[in-house]
Amino acid sequence: MTSPAFLGALCLALSCLGSARGLGRSDDLEWGKLIMVHHWPATVCQEVRGHCKDPPSYWTIHGLWPDKSEACNRSWPFNPQEIKDLLPDMKRYWPDLLHPSNCSLQFWSHEWKKHGTCAAQLDALNSQWKYFSKSLDLYKELALSSVLQKLGIEPSIDRYYQVSDIRDALVSVYKVVPKVQCFLLEKGQEVQLLGQMELCFSKDLQLLNCTHAGEPAARGQGAWPRLGLHVCEDGPVLYPPLNQTKL
Ligand SMILES: *[C@@H]1O[C@H](CO)[C@@H](O)[C@H](O)[C@H]1NC(C)=O
Ligand SMILES: *[C@@H]1O[C@H](CO)[C@@H](O)[C@H](O)[C@H]1NC(C)=O
Ligand SMILES: *[C@@H]1O[C@H](CO)[C@@H](O)[C@H](O)[C@H]1NC(C)=O
Ligand SMILES: *[C@@H]1O[C@H](CO)[C@@H](O)[C@H](O)[C@H]1NC(C)=O
Repeated sequence: MTSPAFLGALCLALSCLGSARGLGRSDDLEWGKLIMVHHWPATVCQEVRGHCKDPPSYWTIHGLWPDKSEACNRSWPFNPQEIKDLLPDMKRYWPDLLHPSNCSLQFWSHEWKKHGTCAAQLDALNSQWKYFSKSLDLYKELALSSVLQKLGIEPSIDRYYQVSDIRDALVSVYKVVPKVQCFLLEKGQEVQLLGQMELCFSKDLQLLNCTHAGEPAARGQGAWPRLGLHVCEDGPVLYPPLNQTKL
């Protein structure tokens, strides 16, 4: 059995892990672009069965990440007081799916320390309020959930999409190439579940292609090591609904 206390401890442990990994490769690496990372609650919750509680039925924010640097300023602690006015939107659009009780603060703290302190090198993002509010703004402008819906790409228990169709459809709207990430589910054979969607921005916050021709696509990113997310392989992919029962 997993108790709430255990989950809290796990959350803390993962946060520490996250920052420990950043050690040693902090400010020395110059970053070039910002990655707006969305994740799909039904897939995240599929992977860590039983942890989620009433996950939302829209894409939520995982984070806004500089592409290279991590943990750039260890003397800049997360302070929820600074984003008080953002909390309703934060809870709605940037929830900690895995630790829904009140651990979102821990999640936001992790995102701030690991990614925000590096993003803060930009004047437009140089405070906690600016970092989180700009992330929320970008998320709302991208409106990924409704864009997918308008494109006719909707969650379904048994309809398979082609990864290239999803990518091409998004390119037609955003005019840049997103990075589409999947989680592999063993179900007799392997099934790809749509899990995470990245859209990239330049340092002046203009949309950019996430990948260049010839650039290696995959990079094991993620706050949760158990999430086996990788760039989707071309081929069929399932975009699972929340209330799936048969997966
Ligand atoms: C790190 O953050 C602290 C607190 O905001 C600030 O005073 C300091 O100048 C920052 N250091 C760097 C190198 O940006
Ligand atoms: C929830 O947050 C409050 C205030 O930060 C803290 O006192 C409490 O222990 C937290 N509960 C859990 C289950 O993490
Ligand atoms: C973005 O990628 C598309 C498709 O690969 C390419 O046609 C376009 O030139 C790229 N744009 C930039 C600015 O690199
Ligand atoms: C499950 O979701 C489908 C659409 O994804 C919906 O049509 C159906 O009513 C939902 N069922 C329940 C029990 O919520």
